[in-house]
Amino acid sequence: MSRIHLHDKTFETYIESKKIVDICARVGAEITKDFKDSGEIPVAICVLNGSIMFMGELMKHLDIDCEFASLRMASYEGTRSTGEVKELLGLTTDIKGRSVIVVEDIVDTGNTIVAICNELEAKGAKEVKVCTLFLKPDVYDKDRKIDYVGMEIENKFIVGFGLDYDQLGRNYPDIYILC
Ligand code: IMP
Ligand code: MG
Repeated sequence: MSRIHLHDKTFETYIESKKIVDICARVGAEITKDFKDSGEIPVAICVLNGSIMFMGELMKHLDIDCEFASLRMASYEGTRSTGEVKELLGLTTDIKGRSVIVVEDIVDTGNTIVAICNELEAKGAKEVKVCTLFLKPDVYDKDRKIDYVGMEIENKFIVGFGLDYDQLGRNYPDIYILC
């Protein structure tokens, strides 16, 4: 067990990288099975920045023809609305009529993933599947099916393997949990 310090907080080892790699292999095999004989070339979309390491490992385990793209979601408070507005930025691949797999680091409330899926469907995607490395099932309260789940975790804050605490911690190969 080791500890890291990021800004004002301390985190301790939660999941070692070897286990994460095994999870990526399992999820990659699930996606491969679903698309292998589908006659389709899906577009796997990395949600920046958090999913960059997950995508890097996952793509090694996709034994299919697959295209890769990325996007990011910008959040801001609407000037007069009460809710948070999320805007999709940076997607340069035309996904009209395509099967899309959104690759996320973690699904918490599900607000982000639902916003992304709605935007991709509005852009004409034929089918949008969701793949997340982590899911917090006690917090997720949306109807949308999460097609591929690496691991369900408790409702605690984690960092590492792409996930950050205020932009730090993404570069650690292991996952750490807030002490
Ligand atoms: P949601 O919209 O509530 O599902 O939150 C999803 C986003 O919040 C993720 O893509 C992460 O950027 C961030 N997030 C949620 N939980 C964690 C966590 O435990 N560690 C790091 N980031 C998190
Ligand atoms: Mg994220």
